[in-house]
Amino acid sequence: MPVRFRLRPAVPGDGTFLADMVVEAANWHAGAPRPRHEIVSDPHHGRYLAGWQRPSDTGVVALDSQDSPIGAAWHRMLPRTEPGFGYVGTGVPELIIGVRPIWRAHGVGRALLQELVRQAQAEGFTRLSLSVQRGNYAAVLYRSEGFVVVEAGNGRDTMVKRLR
Ligand SMILES: CC(C)(COP(=O)(O)OP(=O)(O)OC[C@H]1O[C@@H](n2cnc3c(N)ncnc32)[C@H](O)[C@@H]1OP(=O)(O)O)[C@@H](O)C(=O)NCCC(=O)NCCS
Repeated sequence: MPVRFRLRPAVPGDGTFLADMVVEAANWHAGAPRPRHEIVSDPHHGRYLAGWQRPSDTGVVALDSQDSPIGAAWHRMLPRTEPGFGYVGTGVPELIIGVRPIWRAHGVGRALLQELVRQAQAEGFTRLSLSVQRGNYAAVLYRSEGFVVVEAGNGRDTMVKRLR
């Protein structure tokens, strides 16, 4: 039976759910999970969330049939002075994505990613970047959607998709 979900634009009230997704992204590996409060208060993770939703933030939220959020993807522009893990340059927003564990491997992540790319294109951006830790199968999804590794760091890869 096909799995049913729908997408809607992210809104200012989604901040708490997006924080859940940052926690999922930080705890993607099988090891002991870091506590939520520790991740959200860590500036390297918290800067993807602070002050959500800023005028330049764009996001997509996936909802189940009860309209409960099950996943989200968004992009945020971070400055050179406080860069994200996937910072590549001024004017290139960085993508963050997460799907609730029980909803994974049902096509939600790909649908979110494709919709966010479509929106970033419509907004006129020429590139979208992200950072993924080596070993995270999310990289397979990113490659299949046209992201390429532009920098290999310490256990992490920075990937970029050209939008035009
Ligand atoms: C990465 C993530 C967002 C993908 O969302 P998803 O809904 O599971 O992804 P999809 O079902 O759309 O699958 C997309 C592709 O991911 C890969 N994939 C998904 N589940 C997988 C699994 N269990 N093992 C290996 N590859 C898998 C496959 O390449 C798949 O493509 P295919 O279905 O054509 O084979 C989600 O798994 C997640 O939230 N992970 C934890 C948070 C995280 O790591 N975020 C990214 C940080 S960089």
